[in-house]
Amino acid sequence: MSSSAASPSRGWGTRLGFYLAAIGSAFGLGNLWRFPYVVAENGGGAFVLLYVGLVFLLGLPLLVAELLLGKTSRSGLWLALESLASDKDSGGNLRPRLSWVTHFAPVVLLICVLVLAYYAVISGWVLHFFMQFLVPLFSAQSLEPQRSLDILLNNGWLQAALASVHLLVVGIIVANDVEEGIERWLGYMMPLFVLLLLILAVKSLSLESAPEALRFLFYPDFSQLTFSSLGHAVGHLFFTLSVGFGTMVTFGSYLQERSYIPMAGFRVATLDSMISLFAGILIFPLVLITISAVTGPLLLFQTVPSFFSQIPGGHLFGLGFFLCLYLAALGASIGLLETIVANLRDKLKWSRLQSAVVAASTCWILALLPALSSTVFKGVRLGERGLLEILDGLLIHWMLPITALVVSQLIYYRLERQKMSSEFIDPESLSSVKLYSHWMFVLRYVAPTVIIAALLLQVWGLFF
Ligand code: PFF
Repeated sequence: MSSSAASPSRGWGTRLGFYLAAIGSAFGLGNLWRFPYVVAENGGGAFVLLYVGLVFLLGLPLLVAELLLGKTSRSGLWLALESLASDKDSGGNLRPRLSWVTHFAPVVLLICVLVLAYYAVISGWVLHFFMQFLVPLFSAQSLEPQRSLDILLNNGWLQAALASVHLLVVGIIVANDVEEGIERWLGYMMPLFVLLLLILAVKSLSLESAPEALRFLFYPDFSQLTFSSLGHAVGHLFFTLSVGFGTMVTFGSYLQERSYIPMAGFRVATLDSMISLFAGILIFPLVLITISAVTGPLLLFQTVPSFFSQIPGGHLFGLGFFLCLYLAALGASIGLLETIVANLRDKLKWSRLQSAVVAASTCWILALLPALSSTVFKGVRLGERGLLEILDGLLIHWMLPITALVVSQLIYYRLERQKMSSEFIDPESLSSVKLYSHWMFVLRYVAPTVIIAALLLQVWGLFF
């Protein structure tokens, strides 16, 4: 593919290329950094059960819907939604035009930009800890985890600089185009992820706190759930599966003609939730053995480095862990920027380079807000929450469920049935017919009910 092509030619070179990119985009800070603290905030096992159930009940059907929209429209979210909104379907039949959709698609892209901006800041934290583990290998200096964290939190400009480095790396990769950029990079990353996580999980499970951690994670105590728990589970699962951003529409548009979407979606959702659970198994024994009372975005950064600083060989494990986390963050950030770039290319006919530069620079400016949240904007608070957490909550617990709901309903009501069924129904398998009607039922009834209930319960939770 040529990076200067005004209208993008589409297609993954290999089927593996799609999986690497889709899983690379799904697997990120959401699994390793965000999942553990959201589980901790929502009381453990009952939330995990709710979350896993919802991944398959709600997340997977919506993921499949977005992939399908991309594959059938062969375009990113913006153009795909415009065609759903137009007053003629693809058979030329007239229908009411939905003019509000023209404004909705740019809002989704703005969400991508905002998420990438705050994601870049957390990726910068990861880079910082990676360097904190790297430096002692080459000098006599020893690692002091709490001091490392304080350096970061007291210096907003350092956070901004690290986020800038991250955005620069992501921008360079994406500007190089899908085949060259994403497939190759993610191809290198994936085996490394798995190997590092395996070694670290085994290490973590050998700790004396492991049984207690496993009980916390997997024993459901429903009294721990709050009014907000459903909204937190729904928001987090959309975030971690990259649903509601248009990312999966973009990736779907690169899928080969013969790919079977429900299976592709199932593999991505299963692997992603397994990795989240795996991250919980890895992190909670460490949390319990260090400081059990912390929660919030600092959870991982307060507990994991201090654990690694206390065990023999901890430096190397720490280095491996933060390298792994950084690669996960990089893969996910590539997915986000690729989504924005693909849409700008489709709709505005900009070149890949121009789109990548404009998108990454906008993210860079916006990243200043979360980067300076613990210093310059320290006073901006909503109860216990600082600016970074306010932004995180607003985007993930409120905006994302709304965009995912709107996109899914547009697909259900406006995408031609024949297009959906021909992607879904495999003539050689009767069960795919059942699967299709189940999927349609979820899109029509289950998704709106669960998402609206989650939003209403959150509103209720704000007052009571
Ligand atoms: N799914 C990623 C994570 O769990 O960290 C976050 C993400 C990446 C969301 C890419 C959206 C996206 F397009």
